[in-house]
Amino acid sequence: MDPSQVKIPELKNLTIENITENVIKINSNNPSPRFKYILERLVTHLHDFARETRLSTSEWMAGIQFLTATGQICTDVRQEFILLSDILGLSLLIDSIDHPKPPSSTEGTVLGPFHTHDANDLPHGDNMSHDPAGEPLLVLCTVKDVSGAPIPGAKIDIWETDSSGKYDVQHADRAEPDGRCVMRSDTDGNFWFKAIVPVPYPIPNDGPVGQLLQRLQRHCWRPSHMHFMFEKPGYDHLITALYLRGDPYETSDAVFGVKESLIIDLGVVGKEEIEKYGVKEGTKLLKYDFVLVGEEESKKLREERSKEALEKLGRRVKIVEGLPVPDVD
Ligand code: BEZ
Ligand code: FE
Repeated sequence: MDPSQVKIPELKNLTIENITENVIKINSNNPSPRFKYILERLVTHLHDFARETRLSTSEWMAGIQFLTATGQICTDVRQEFILLSDILGLSLLIDSIDHPKPPSSTEGTVLGPFHTHDANDLPHGDNMSHDPAGEPLLVLCTVKDVSGAPIPGAKIDIWETDSSGKYDVQHADRAEPDGRCVMRSDTDGNFWFKAIVPVPYPIPNDGPVGQLLQRLQRHCWRPSHMHFMFEKPGYDHLITALYLRGDPYETSDAVFGVKESLIIDLGVVGKEEIEKYGVKEGTKLLKYDFVLVGEEESKKLREERSKEALEKLGRRVKIVEGLPVPDVD
C-alpha cells in the first residue's frame, strides 16, 4: 500500500474535543469492518477515560510503568497479563460474552494462567496427582449434551494445585507435568480418575498485579477448585472449574470465577466405589455431570445476545462471521 494514496483527515490543531473523531478517522482505512469497529470503540473509551478522569501526565506515566512491569515479568510459564485481566473481571466478562450458556448447560469460568499443553494423556482411573501430602479424592464424571445424550471421545484437560496450593509449573524444579492430565470420555460419556482434594491458594502476588491488589486492599486468594476444559468438534469449547462449598473464599474469589452452579459438595466413597475403583476407605468423592452446548446453538445464542445488547445501547449492527460490526448500509 502506498501511504501517500491513503485518504486521511487533515491532522492539525487537534483539541480535547476533536482529537477522538480524527484518530478514529485515520484508523478507519483498514479493510476489516470488525477491526475498525474494535479500534473505534477502544479509542473512544480510552479518550473518554482520559477526559472523564482529567488524567494527569504523571498518572499516565505510572500506568505505563505498571504495564511495562507487567510485561517484563512474563515468561513461558508466567502470564501476568492474564492475571491482570482476571483481577479486573475482564476474563470472566469476555468468557460470559463469548460462550453464552443455555440454562441446562454447564457454565464456564476463568481459565487462569496455569493451563499447559504438556499434560499426559491418562487412562480412566489413573492418578493425576502424585503429591503424597494431598488428601485422596476419587472423581467420577459424565459429559453429555443438552438433551442428555452422552458425548463420547471428548478431550478433557484437568488441572489442580498440589496440597501446598502450587501448580506444578510454579515449582522451579518441575521435572514433568503433575496435578494435570488429559482424558477422553468413554462411549457412555464417563471419565474418572484419582486426584487430591483441592485447597485454596493465593494467585501469584510477587509481581505488579500483587502490588495492585495490595494497593486496592484486596486479598489474593482463590477458593479451592479443580479446572476442566472440554473440546469436541461440534460442541462449544467449555472452560470451567468446580469449587468446594464452604471454602473461606467462596464469596470473595480474587478473580471472580465462582458461580453457584459450579459449587459442589464432596462425598465419601462407599463400599461399591472402594471395590470398583481400588480406593481406600474414607477417600473423598467428587461427582459431577457436565453438559456441553452444540456449536450451532452456542453461535446462535451469541449472535442473538450481541444484537440485543447493542440494540439496548442504541447501535445498529449486523453480524459478520459471528461478530457484530456497525450496520452502515
Ligand atoms: C487459576 O485458577 O488457576 C487462576 C485463575 C486466575 C488467576 C490465577 C490463577
Ligand atoms: Fe486454579
